Amino acid sequence: MSMAGNGLGPNGALPAPFAPAEALWDCEADDTLVCRAVRQETHDVKTFVLAPSTPGRFRFQPGQFMTYAFEIGGETLYRCYTISSPPTRPDRLSFTVKRVPGGPVSNWLHDNLRPGMRIRAVGPMGEFTSTAHPAPKYLFLSGGSGITPLMSMARTFGDLGGGEDVVFVHSARTPADIIFREELEAMARVDEAFRFVPIVERVGPLAPSSGLRGYLTRAILDLVAPDFREREVFVCGPAPYMAAVRALLAEAGFDMRRHHDESFDFSALAVEEKAEAMEAETQLEAEAAVKTYRVEFTKTRRTIEVPADMTVLEAAKRAGMRLPSSCAKGLCGTCKSKKVSGTLEMAHQGGIRQREIDAGMVLLCCSKPTSDLVIER
Ligand SMILES: Cc1cc2nc3c(=O)[nH]c(=O)nc-3n(C[C@H](O)[C@H](O)[C@H](O)COP(=O)(O)OP(=O)(O)OC[C@H]3O[C@@H](n4cnc5c(N)ncnc54)[C@H](O)[C@@H]3O)c2cc1C
Ligand code: FES
Repeated sequence: MSMAGNGLGPNGALPAPFAPAEALWDCEADDTLVCRAVRQETHDVKTFVLAPSTPGRFRFQPGQFMTYAFEIGGETLYRCYTISSPPTRPDRLSFTVKRVPGGPVSNWLHDNLRPGMRIRAVGPMGEFTSTAHPAPKYLFLSGGSGITPLMSMARTFGDLGGGEDVVFVHSARTPADIIFREELEAMARVDEAFRFVPIVERVGPLAPSSGLRGYLTRAILDLVAPDFREREVFVCGPAPYMAAVRALLAEAGFDMRRHHDESFDFSALAVEEKAEAMEAETQLEAEAAVKTYRVEFTKTRRTIEVPADMTVLEAAKRAGMRLPSSCAKGLCGTCKSKKVSGTLEMAHQGGIRQREIDAGMVLLCCSKPTSDLVIER
């Protein structure tokens, strides 16, 4: 058969659009992603499929997240979303969003993001990944939209066929709220090393359930994964769920070095760290009078005094200002703002790119002033 006859190009190459891109997507070079598809997963959850705007492939670890910038109502809002697709399918990148009542971004995404539209993204980021903790057996525990990082990990194991034994226990309100239900059930049918155990709080009117009811308890854990102490455990879900799982495992004598969890609400986790930082600060303040700088915010027309040893975000919060923030440690990009003038010291963890820094952007949560400042906020 001729090349033309079988549809292949010279040397058997696949024609576009099936030819895999060679280049890796790099947010430093081009941060624009194009929405290619939108999928309704449940009544209040959608998946958005993205592609690079120029040919490229995504490289990330299963469980990592991206920070997206959304232009909504004349403002730029930053939010983090876990990559729900696996790195084994590198031509596309998906994220899966649950509507949060009253939430500006999750509702905007559900109502507005359509194929063909472009969004800006930074990443990938995060250390919550099975790749960092290779093990023969895993236990995945998720609640609600916390299923997304574990889904990426499960899809990766499924695609690579490495034979890892995975028990995936997912808690949802009703059977109709189980995200990725059909896919997880199909994965369990074809792979005997993979078990999917949904637990629902109550049976709803929309979908039947033959699974477990109630909350995750020690009795359920003993039933579905009696060998849980031999497993590497990954947990993601609402803060109360994660706290309950932590207590349950610790009480059961689980080696907590093999327990890994991630919160979608950084502020809950940051409370402890903040308390420690404030204690150290009080000590410092007692030891010496710290120099302070004037920081002016142009949009809100506020000017505050910021001690040299305090971040601009922390000082603004103490002054009663409400600035956007999430992780408070230079990771997610939510507090990104334009510095109009002045100097500061920024200790970020990847939430901002070099070219943004070059363009005068700063992360207020991890920046301490070294002169008076003017910030566009
Ligand atoms: C690392 C990371 C990964 C994330 N991955 C995902 C993901 O894969 N899918 C996803 O849907 N969301 C994810 N989130 C949450 C997401 O960033 C947004 O916070 C969420 O979509 C709400 O944004 P919003 O602007 O609509 O509401 P916001 O104004 O940001 O939030 C409104 C309120 O709802 C709470 N809230 C936030 N998210 C949820 C939720 N999922 N369920 C219930 N309450 C919530 C917030 O704490 C806040 O009190 C992730 C967050 C982080 C930090
Ligand atoms: S709040 Fe996350 S980078 Fe500042």
